[in-house]
Amino acid sequence: MPGEKVTISVIKADIGSIAGHHKVHPDTMLAASRVLAEAKKKGLIKSFYVTHVGDDLELIMTHYKGVDNPEIHELAWNAFKEATKVAKDLGLYAAGQDLLSDAFSGNVRGLGPGVAEMEFVERPAEPVIVFMADKTEPGAFNLPLFKMFADPFNTAGLVIDPRMHEGFIFEILDVYEGKIVQLKSPEEMYDILALIGTPGRYVIKRIYRKTDGEIAAVVSSERLNLIAGKYVGKDDPVAIVRAQSGLPAVGEVLEAFSFPHLVAGWMRGSHHGPLMPVGLKDAKMTRFDGPPRIVGLGFQIHNGELIGPADLFDDPAFDETRRLAQIIAEYMRRHGPFMPHRLGPEEMEYTTLPAVLKKLHDRFKPYEMGYKPVIKHTEELTGETHE
Ligand code: F6R
Ligand code: MG
Ligand code: MG
Repeated sequence: MPGEKVTISVIKADIGSIAGHHKVHPDTMLAASRVLAEAKKKGLIKSFYVTHVGDDLELIMTHYKGVDNPEIHELAWNAFKEATKVAKDLGLYAAGQDLLSDAFSGNVRGLGPGVAEMEFVERPAEPVIVFMADKTEPGAFNLPLFKMFADPFNTAGLVIDPRMHEGFIFEILDVYEGKIVQLKSPEEMYDILALIGTPGRYVIKRIYRKTDGEIAAVVSSERLNLIAGKYVGKDDPVAIVRAQSGLPAVGEVLEAFSFPHLVAGWMRGSHHGPLMPVGLKDAKMTRFDGPPRIVGLGFQIHNGELIGPADLFDDPAFDETRRLAQIIAEYMRRHGPFMPHRLGPEEMEYTTLPAVLKKLHDRFKPYEMGYKPVIKHTEELTGETHE
C-alpha cells in the first residue's frame, strides 16, 4: 500500500557448517527456506532470500510488521531451529552454536542471532544493499560506513548532490555500556572518528539523512562474546544500506569497500586481518579460517518484494582489492602469535594467558635494585632429571 512502511529484516546465525567453520551446508539453507516459504504463504512475510557467508546462515526478509516484531523474530528462530536439526542430523561442525537458549522469548536479540532491521516508506524505486561478513565483528562496518556517509573523497554526492549536502546523523553504540549517542556529520566529524576508531567498543548502529531523518543504514550490533559472558561464537555482522536518489549511489556505497581495511575476528576470533569483498561463490573460509570476507547483495524493493539479488562484489572491479587483501593477509600472517596480528589480551576470544600466568606465578621474582640473575640448569629449575 502506498505510504505504508515496509520492513527489511536481516537475521543471521551460525547453526553449524561443513568442514569446520568453512561454509554453510545447502541442506540447512533449504530447511530454513521451507520455514520462510510457509510464512510467506500465510502472509506473515512478503518475501525472503536465504543465503550464507562462510559459516553464517543469513535470512533476508521483507514484511509489514515493523522492527523488533516478535512474530518475525520467532519465525527466524524457528528457521534456525529447523536448520539446526538438519545440521545435527548431518553431524555438521558446531551445530546450533549461536542458539544460546532452548526457548524463544519474544525477541532474538540476546539469544545469539545477529539482527539488522529497518523500516521505511518505499520510494518509487528503492535500491537496498545487504552486506554480510564472516570472521569479523560489527565494528568492521565503522570505516566503510564513515566513508560512504561522511567522506567526500569517497562519496562525491556529499559535495555535489544538493539532497546530501547537509550531511548525515550517525547513531553510535557503546557495546560495553549499552549506551547510544547521535552525532552530526560534518559538524561533529572529529568526535565521530574519536569514537568509531575503536571499533571493538563503539559501533555505528544507524545512519539517518539530516535534512529529513530518513533512515539510510543499520548494522547488527550483537556481540556474542558479551551476550554469553564467554566465547561461544563470533559476532559476524550484517548491515543494510539504502542507496541512490539523495543517498549515496550504489557505486559510492561499494567504493567504500575498495580498501581492504584491517578488522578483528580472524582465526579463533582473535586476530586482525584484511576484509576481502567477494562474490557468493567465494563466500567460504579457507586460509587461517578466512581471511575475513564480505558479500554485498543488491536488491530493489518493490511493493514490499525483494527483487534480485545482484551479487555486487562478484566483479573484476574488485580483483585488485582482493589481491591487496591477499598481500595484507600474508604480511599479517608472518607476525604469527604477535600483536597487532593477534588481538590484544582483552579482545581475544581464545586465550591461555590466565593459565600461563597462574602457572608461572611463583617463578616471577621481584625485579629491583640489586637483583642478581641466578641461572639454573634445566634440571634444577624443573626438578626433572634427564638421562
Ligand atoms: C569460528 C571461527 C574459527 C574457529 C576456529 C577454532 O567462527 O572463527 O576460526 O574459532 O576454527 O574452532 P574450534 O575451537 O571449534 O576448533
Ligand atoms: Mg563458526
Ligand atoms: Mg561465522
